[in-house]
Amino acid sequence: MIISLICLKSSMKNNIYQNFTIHNFLEVGSTNDQAKQMALANQIQDREIIVADSQNKGRGRLNRDWISQKGNLFFSILLKNPLKSQKNIAKIPEISFIAAISLRNAIEKLIISQKTEKNQNIVENKWPNDILINNFKVSGILLESEIKNNLCEFVVLGIGVNLVSSPENTMFKAKNLSQFGVKITKFEFLEKFLDEFEIFYKKWQDFGFLSIRNIWLEKAWKIGQEIKINVNDKQISGIFENIDENGNLILKIDNVLQKISIGDVS
Ligand code: BTN
Repeated sequence: MIISLICLKSSMKNNIYQNFTIHNFLEVGSTNDQAKQMALANQIQDREIIVADSQNKGRGRLNRDWISQKGNLFFSILLKNPLKSQKNIAKIPEISFIAAISLRNAIEKLIISQKTEKNQNIVENKWPNDILINNFKVSGILLESEIKNNLCEFVVLGIGVNLVSSPENTMFKAKNLSQFGVKITKFEFLEKFLDEFEIFYKKWQDFGFLSIRNIWLEKAWKIGQEIKINVNDKQISGIFENIDENGNLILKIDNVLQKISIGDVS
């Protein structure tokens, strides 16, 4: 059940901010599932956002749980027909890179504007789409798509941001923004994110992935260094050379370049 359409700040008129309409729930299973279900029932349209105070079945990548601690931000954006007239569904994962650079920019700007005592806080993108501060994960992205007859009808872009707390014992160590001196409410953060996403999403739709990829690569965690990556329960290591024109990771193993499309860098 929808609890309210929010209007928390003067800049957020009639629950619309930057052309995005925001629906706020007290509790859902997963904001991604809620958005998908409402999209299929034609209850929400392009650029509508589901936000929830808590999730009891939050999901992460690779069928993992996303531990959804109260006070953190959980939201999913519905993007209908994101590829416009293009038909190449291989381009869909590029949207998670748009979200990743938007999150990175938003967090970097907050760190600068709030002049946290440690100005050496480094915000980086970890392949494929985690956001790290000083090597700790603070945000993750789960992109899911609805494909029919080889056409993308919509994607649900789900994002979790650790604002005030972070789970213990995660595969990759997590922290939250408050631990880096960033104090911000959920909806203030959402606005900062949407400011960035609006620009980069349009850029991508108009000009393609190249500029998005370049911005992502500017602060890519462990680029040029040796990494270990788990692919289908197998761990491989090599030098993280690059990401290709579709966002696949390019790993150099014994001087041979190998393309990796799904995996977990550790
Ligand atoms: C990951 O890093 O594994 C991705 C985590 C994505 C979590 C968000 S929280 C909002 C949305 N709803 C979900 O169930 N998952 C995403």
